[in-house]
Amino acid sequence: MMIDIGAQRGVSVIPMYSKDGTAFFDKSKNKELKEKIKSELKAYNFEGKKEETLFLKIGNNKVLLIGINKAYSLEDLRRSYSVVYKMLKARKEKEATIEVPKEDEKEIKAMIEGLDLSDYKFDKYITKKEEKEVELHVFLDVSHKFARLLQETLLVNKNVKIVRDLVNDNSYSKTPQILTEIVSDFAKKNNLKAKVLDEKDIQKEKLNLLWAVGQGSQYPPRLIIAEYNGNPNSKEKIALIGKGINFDTGGVNLKQMMLDEMRMDMAGAAVVFGAFKTAVELKLKKNLILVIPAAENALSGRSYKPGDIFVSYSGISVEIGNTDAEGRLVLADAIGYVQKNYKPTAIIDVATLTGAVMVALGPSLIGMFGNNEQQKKVLFKAGEETFERVWELPIYDEHRDLNKGKFADIKNIGGKDGGSITAAAFLEKFIQEGVNWTHLDIAGAASNKKESYYIPEFGTGRVVRLLTEYLKQ
Ligand code: BES
Ligand code: ZN
Ligand code: ZN
Repeated sequence: MMIDIGAQRGVSVIPMYSKDGTAFFDKSKNKELKEKIKSELKAYNFEGKKEETLFLKIGNNKVLLIGINKAYSLEDLRRSYSVVYKMLKARKEKEATIEVPKEDEKEIKAMIEGLDLSDYKFDKYITKKEEKEVELHVFLDVSHKFARLLQETLLVNKNVKIVRDLVNDNSYSKTPQILTEIVSDFAKKNNLKAKVLDEKDIQKEKLNLLWAVGQGSQYPPRLIIAEYNGNPNSKEKIALIGKGINFDTGGVNLKQMMLDEMRMDMAGAAVVFGAFKTAVELKLKKNLILVIPAAENALSGRSYKPGDIFVSYSGISVEIGNTDAEGRLVLADAIGYVQKNYKPTAIIDVATLTGAVMVALGPSLIGMFGNNEQQKKVLFKAGEETFERVWELPIYDEHRDLNKGKFADIKNIGGKDGGSITAAAFLEKFIQEGVNWTHLDIAGAASNKKESYYIPEFGTGRVVRLLTEYLKQ
């Protein structure tokens, strides 16, 4: 699909509001057509309820009415215009012009998201493609002053779709080495500094937790780092760290559930890459460090074992209670390494860390933890705005106590209760004093059981828009 700004062509898509069960619209635009629609409408019982649609042919005009409740939210707009996109596609329409309810930046952005984020299919491996698709060209009937907003929104969406593709793809199509190449290529094209620690470096530098998790795989681990200095005058430096497990078998503690979905365990890495890429392409005035600890949690004769103890990069010793709690291990070494060698003022880590976050918050919310109220507040607001919603969970001493090890400083599991919290408490132990830290657990948000409006089944691409919004603040 292409989206441009422009006037009447093809199907006229017109928002209708519902008031007391009667449909009405704003008459300031397209007066003549609307008079005709009004008289035509008498023959239908169209109420203009949320997401209700009606297709009409009036003379030579094709009209698609879309119902929107008068008190609509940004998310209502995303959903309604996702419905519009699907309807236009199903009818194989070539052109459509969209009238907006209001010429408002946020609303127009939400409408573009609803349309464009619905235009996604993971069909790389479908060998029999359906008949050649009809290209849809959509025109937004708005002032040209919104051209920049349109381009920026499409740019973010493109990166959301790249993240979806990565999450959806095979585990063997996003190994630590392949992720390395993706980040290195991007860095090279944009003249950014990048650094990659391979399996030899990882052992030499004593990133023992990352090595432990990755050692069972034929695809050796990597620590992937890239830097973007968008604001050289500022001392602020944010590290975006993403869990990059291309497949999580659980290791020797072999997973019992959802094994076939565990190629999505690198969604944190995909998301931080997507947000970093967006920030670079939008030239945001931020200093960022992208950090991806990449490994496969495989099951083999070389896998690490329950009961093993490893000394982390930071020097804290860790007892392995369960080899399936691997995410916190690779993150801990990444946190340790970036703090020592890059001195960030803030860290945001993103990880499909615990199944427990879905038990606590349901299938799609993001669990948030952290030590800085301001950072959490901005993220919460960005979540409301983008509908990539975050909800804070606490960490108290009673949770920290659950991670106590028998023979080491800390253990990588905290028992059956409060699993997302004990995982966060584990990470917290590796955060240096003075570093503003937020942890986002996206085990639920990263994937969808089934398609819902503009969010496809499986890889959702969620959190790219959230972090972009955060970084814009
Ligand atoms: N990658 C999983 C978490 C996960 C579960 C993500 C379901 C997406 C969907 C993580 O590595 C894991 O296995 N966590 C364990 C921790 C437990 C062993 C303490 C879990 O959630 O069960
Ligand atoms: Zn695991
Ligand atoms: Zn995992």
